[in-house]
Amino acid sequence: MSIRLGDDAPDFTAETTDGPVSFHEWKGDGWAVLFSHPKDFTPVCTTELGRVAGLKDEFAKRNTKVIGLSVDPLDSHKGWIQDIEDVTGNALNFPLIADHDRKVSDLYDMIHPKADDTMTVRSVFVVGPDNKVKLTLTYPASTGRNFDELLRSIDSLQLTAYHAVATPADWRDGEDVVIGTGVTDEEAHEKFPGFNAVKPYLRITPQPNK
Ligand code: BEZ
Repeated sequence: MSIRLGDDAPDFTAETTDGPVSFHEWKGDGWAVLFSHPKDFTPVCTTELGRVAGLKDEFAKRNTKVIGLSVDPLDSHKGWIQDIEDVTGNALNFPLIADHDRKVSDLYDMIHPKADDTMTVRSVFVVGPDNKVKLTLTYPASTGRNFDELLRSIDSLQLTAYHAVATPADWRDGEDVVIGTGVTDEEAHEKFPGFNAVKPYLRITPQPNK
């Protein structure tokens, strides 16, 4: 079954390159990214894993742990790790699930048989402190993901979780935001004094937590 925004992120235990992981326990009360890779020793996956390893500090700043998945077995992952470092200069610094029995892939509906019935697609699940799914992405195997966009999305998720605002097109951390549609003008004058009403429904204000 597909997983939708707001659903509980299913818990699982899995073998990983960092040893056995029990997902909810490993994640704790922070944020997490679970992302799948179609196959070991493939070019796009190699660049993606190295890129994410290079963003370790960026994910840590956002209190976000990262865990990858590929349906190949652990000894295959272990052989691949050195290639990832050789190619990208970044050593893998997060667990990579060896989902050879497809337990986690099936739980998270990461195999789309009309795309390919043996490999996963490139799925991303961002899970919040409450273990609910906050964002999903699905890319085909041939299209590598943009991890700057993932960080940007996490910034928006974390901001909008705690403030009554939303983020406009192409927003980046530090830029103006829009006041949530559930906020009346009266409340907006109190909470966001001096906001700019471009339209009655489009009210711009500086990012509140800056
Ligand atoms: C890749 O990572 O390059 C890849 C993996 C599976 C199918 C196509 C490309």
